[in-house]
Amino acid sequence: MSVQASGDRREPAVDPNESLKDYMDARRPAVEAALQAACEDRPGVPERLAAAIRYAVLAPGKRLRPMLTIMAAEACGGDMESAMPSAVAAEMIHAYSLIHDDLPAMDDDDLRRGRPTTHIEFDEATAILAGDALQSMAFAHLHQSTSDTTKSAALIGTLATAAGPAGLVGGQADDLDAEKYTVEDFGGAVAALKHLEAIHHRKTGALFTACAAMGAISAGADTNAVSALTDYAKAFGLAFQITDDLLDCTSTDEQLGKRTGKDDGRGKLTYPGLMGLDRARAHAESTIHMAHESLQLFGSSAQRLRKLADFVLERTN
Ligand code: IPE
Ligand code: IPE
Ligand code: MG
Ligand code: MG
Ligand code: MG
Repeated sequence: MSVQASGDRREPAVDPNESLKDYMDARRPAVEAALQAACEDRPGVPERLAAAIRYAVLAPGKRLRPMLTIMAAEACGGDMESAMPSAVAAEMIHAYSLIHDDLPAMDDDDLRRGRPTTHIEFDEATAILAGDALQSMAFAHLHQSTSDTTKSAALIGTLATAAGPAGLVGGQADDLDAEKYTVEDFGGAVAALKHLEAIHHRKTGALFTACAAMGAISAGADTNAVSALTDYAKAFGLAFQITDDLLDCTSTDEQLGKRTGKDDGRGKLTYPGLMGLDRARAHAESTIHMAHESLQLFGSSAQRLRKLADFVLERTN
């Protein structure tokens, strides 16, 4: 049995030979155009603030959150156009989270997406305010772009919960707090690992989960589909942050476009730090296996989501 979107839509056929790269290359121009349009000058927005917002959002990111949102919609019989407001809103929240994550009070980074971080290119106050602005812009964008008010309320609620204190912000708070403690302070390796998993689920997983749910909601999917995609994205997000932790240990600044080898120095709680590289890698693999299992109810319409999951293990940036 395959999960169907509600109504009379059927699962769309997906070319089995389509590569993830072909798919992303085909969708990217529309995503970039939508992001650009959402960051256009608006009356009342100070020029320097607008420039910082554009600098952060339009920087060359992988756009995985918009892609996941669109893929989830398409897997449920929806389309890119109706998923785009959610895709843009998710990338706005992501861009804000990166600006703030890089601030001196947080991870204190000077390189992001191959360029100086927003607070280095502009100044700290402008970076903080650009992040603040992007957070509210995401919700205004969802509100303005979704005429179906029931759907718009569901999308806004989903993203707000994910971005909030029990989601992304809470995960970031615990991530920073954990810098102060040793594994013993957490009560040993098992307890530290449990705490770390909860951090990663919130600081990174919550937004990916919202992307999948918003994509499904925008497609008018039924609750079974939303729930399966949410499970998929939760596992996807955890594996994604494990590989981010791994790349911090194994990659270079040039390859990632951000500083590497920093997590250990800052005393971050990470999977490689707790388990070593090999076991952390194996854990990412088994987590991606769980992501695949969550898609069992879907047929070929979830093929792209399966490829996106595999990409997490292969990614080099
Ligand atoms: C970086 O996310 C922040 C994490 C959650 C690890 P990405 O690796 O998706 O960053 P961009 O958007 O491609 O720059
Ligand atoms: C950040 O995790 C997660 C966010 C919510 C931004 P990291 O601090 O590991 O992300 P990078 O390595 O700076 O991109
Ligand atoms: Mg961080
Ligand atoms: Mg960081
Ligand atoms: Mg990192």
